[in-house]
Amino acid sequence: MNFDIEKLDNEKINGEKKLFCISTFGCQMNEEDSEKLSGMLKRIGYERTENKEEASIIIFNTCCVRENAENKVYGNLGRLKKQKEKNPDLIIAICGCMMQQKGKADEMLKRFPYVDIIFGTHNSYKFPEYLNRVKTEGVQIKEIMDKETEIVEGLPIDRKSDAKAFVTIMYGCNNFCTYCIVPYVRGRERSRRSEDIENEIKELVDRGYKEVTLLGQNVNSYGKGLEENITFPQLLRMINEIEGLERIRFMTSHPKDLTLDVVYAIRDCDKVCEQIHLPVQSGSDRILKEMNRHYTKEQYLALAKKIRSEIPDVTFSTDIIVGFPGETEEDFNETLELVKEVQYDAAFTYLYSRRNYTPADKMENQISDEVKHERFNRLVKISNDGIAKGNKEAEGKIYEVLVEGPSKNDDSKLTGRTRNARLVNFEGGEELIGKLINVKIVKANSFSLIGEVVK
Ligand code: SAH
Ligand code: SF4
Ligand code: F3S
Repeated sequence: MNFDIEKLDNEKINGEKKLFCISTFGCQMNEEDSEKLSGMLKRIGYERTENKEEASIIIFNTCCVRENAENKVYGNLGRLKKQKEKNPDLIIAICGCMMQQKGKADEMLKRFPYVDIIFGTHNSYKFPEYLNRVKTEGVQIKEIMDKETEIVEGLPIDRKSDAKAFVTIMYGCNNFCTYCIVPYVRGRERSRRSEDIENEIKELVDRGYKEVTLLGQNVNSYGKGLEENITFPQLLRMINEIEGLERIRFMTSHPKDLTLDVVYAIRDCDKVCEQIHLPVQSGSDRILKEMNRHYTKEQYLALAKKIRSEIPDVTFSTDIIVGFPGETEEDFNETLELVKEVQYDAAFTYLYSRRNYTPADKMENQISDEVKHERFNRLVKISNDGIAKGNKEAEGKIYEVLVEGPSKNDDSKLTGRTRNARLVNFEGGEELIGKLINVKIVKANSFSLIGEVVK
């Protein structure tokens, strides 16, 4: 289905400048959805602010993958009560994955009756319509669609960066890992037509973008259910041909679906970067089975080894869950061993969090918080040792870096990433932002590199 962008023009606001603020929780999927909400709002005349106090619309794009993601939203909404009392014209909206859970929207309305609009992940393209109704009819709106709809193409996107962009290639997930709520709140897998993806990227390149990250919960199963006959490695090879594009990244890969064809495509395509996000979740075969992951530790290690042998200087990142129900000390040690062996360059480590409706929530042998925390700390230490080691290995080498902007910790420096996703800070003028330059690594810190621009 194509979004009717012209229709937005009827909703245009006139007069004084009005601001909106979006707080985004969760993963890149939500980031991209927020960029679309922002794109639509800008198109009808609003401007973006990061300061809630000056905003006339405040949106929370929520995540429910873990309990703490939800708690953040409750806290934020609670704090808005006073602002809404002072300014009854303020419009508060909540959307995203958390709203897709059964009964959640009603629960939110009870707890935070001053919220004006609630919508879900499948109908966010309707936000301008909801907004209009709230403004003209003064109603409260709650609309959640239980089922995924056809993919909506052609939404305006207001991207955060001018150099690199997220491009969704598929929505939803069919994997049903037993701990995970994503398939319940994002629906079944749907792939975008390759032509739509290609056109979007070509347009980005025309506007000066150098890097794209192809997004999906499991990009390796791209193409299933499409009329055209296309697989993920074929899509990579196709995008690699786009003139002017410099870098292609993608996430997330499920180890069970990352085939040799994908490995060869990464190896053969000069634009596809040498970096793979390959969530392992656990190193214990027993736990992997309970998680419904469909691979063993041995298979995962063999895959990582094959990738290293085919793709020089490749780096790996991963997600790991600590304290899945029934995880023994032995199981956990298997995870530690695997982390040492693979030597990740980034590891996102999570305490297992019980999620409603998921099979793992009903499992016995839930692990105590105390044990989870103690294991978590051990894991972080070992994973950090690996990251520091990897960074050390980069010392003295010259890397191509895409300059992203001022460094977060020290704005006298610039920051950017190498093709294999290492973070480099270095001195340089603003004119370098958005460019690809060569940087020599002079020093490795634990989580980043210090470099010097090679003239
Ligand atoms: N589709 C991606 C990302 C899913 S969500 C993938 O398959 O990897 C990102 C990460 O959150 C997951 O990889 C997992 O490590 C973590 N996660 C998901 N559910 C969780 C839960 N109930 N408790 C703790 N971590 C969880
Ligand atoms: Fe969740 Fe598993 Fe799907 Fe990832 S692959 S989104 S962890 S169910
Ligand atoms: Fe969270 Fe939804 Fe992403 S639950 S992790 S924002 S898909």
